Amino acid sequence: MAAGNLLYAQSGGVTAVINATASAVIEAARARGTRIGKVYAARDGILGALREELIDTGVEPAAAIRALAHTPGGAFGSCRFKLKDIAGDRASYERLIAVFRAHDIRWFLYNGGNDSADTALKLSSIGAALGYPIACIGIPKTVDNDLAETDSSPGFGSVAKYTAISTMEAGFDVRAMASTSTRVFVLETMGRHAGWIAASAGLAARTRDDPPHLILLPEVPFDEARFLAAVDACVKRVGYCVIVVSEGVRDATGRFLAEAGGVDAFGHRQLGGVGPLIADLVGAKLGYKHHAAVSDYLQRSARHIASKTDLAHARAVGKAAVAYALAGMNAVMPAIRRTSQRPYRWTIEPAPLDRVANREKQLPRQFIRADGFGITAAARRYLAPLIEGEAHPPYRADGLPDYVVLKNRPVRKKLPQFRIPGH
Ligand code: F6P
Repeated sequence: MAAGNLLYAQSGGVTAVINATASAVIEAARARGTRIGKVYAARDGILGALREELIDTGVEPAAAIRALAHTPGGAFGSCRFKLKDIAGDRASYERLIAVFRAHDIRWFLYNGGNDSADTALKLSSIGAALGYPIACIGIPKTVDNDLAETDSSPGFGSVAKYTAISTMEAGFDVRAMASTSTRVFVLETMGRHAGWIAASAGLAARTRDDPPHLILLPEVPFDEARFLAAVDACVKRVGYCVIVVSEGVRDATGRFLAEAGGVDAFGHRQLGGVGPLIADLVGAKLGYKHHAAVSDYLQRSARHIASKTDLAHARAVGKAAVAYALAGMNAVMPAIRRTSQRPYRWTIEPAPLDRVANREKQLPRQFIRADGFGITAAARRYLAPLIEGEAHPPYRADGLPDYVVLKNRPVRKKLPQFRIPGH
């Protein structure tokens, strides 16, 4: 006799491998036979739980769940939505309990970043407060790699691999054009307040004269004069200059160089556009012909060039989350622990959600080169194993990847509609 049903949901910015976690959760739950009843997914994260928009993953054949592991995006939809504290919004918590009770949901697995860990943490305490047994497990994911308590975040290794490879490839291009055309190429990466993704571009360089020649990190305040002098010196020495800039670069006063406008539900400003801005600055002040690329969603959806290590992490945290749920754990997150640097070895251990929620892990000082424009050997040692191995998706005869779109069959609603405060 099953002890109840399990609800899985995706939250925050999706990654190339978050569906691999979903696939591992569903497969692990199915492998437990009757210990877990149904595996539901919430449509658009916690919003689906509040709206009672549940998806029955049970109708998906094993092959579709297997194919999820090589499909980018978030199969059930994601959201950016912050739950207030129970004191400020008791109705939403009561609604969640009503939905859990109506559908006999005993375990809630929330797959997201640090803001989503906050939601998972808040939910983990409502069972006791509202008299319904619900266990809540956070599952890590974020391309930003800024989650505390875990050595790396699933999603990051793949975006790092994409970034290092793109930098390397664009570098070959610029080198060929530099004598008569483009001298400067700028690639903008995501990463918001932490420079992990931009730093990963540094893996492409074997010597100081290999691209990327300069990396601009959010951890290092932008100094225009010093930057322009470094670009000029690089073009004079190497013939061209490849620059990687994090979207989160700030000036000495702490202001972002580029804000795309808008603030999300977590209060994060939407960033973007710093790459073209930097390229235009170089053109205006140094006169070099330039190109700029904003890798934006391309970088975090690039499943075709995913890291095999990252994929293994993404699947392992999903599997562990199910094991934790069945072991009766609550308010924890499966975290990746690096147990050996060379050869790279890792294991999964539970971390308390209250040490993950709302914290941001920035690049440590010892990972940033003394001039602030590159990474150190220590950073390289940390980053290198995370991009190792390829995990190509299968391809169709027409040359495109064979990605899956699930049926996402809705579960029949049992409750009256609920108006989500502020929505
Ligand atoms: O989830 C993290 C992230 O990928 C950031 O690096 C980026 O700034 C942000 O998401 C973009 O969020 P959205 O897709 O909601 O605009």
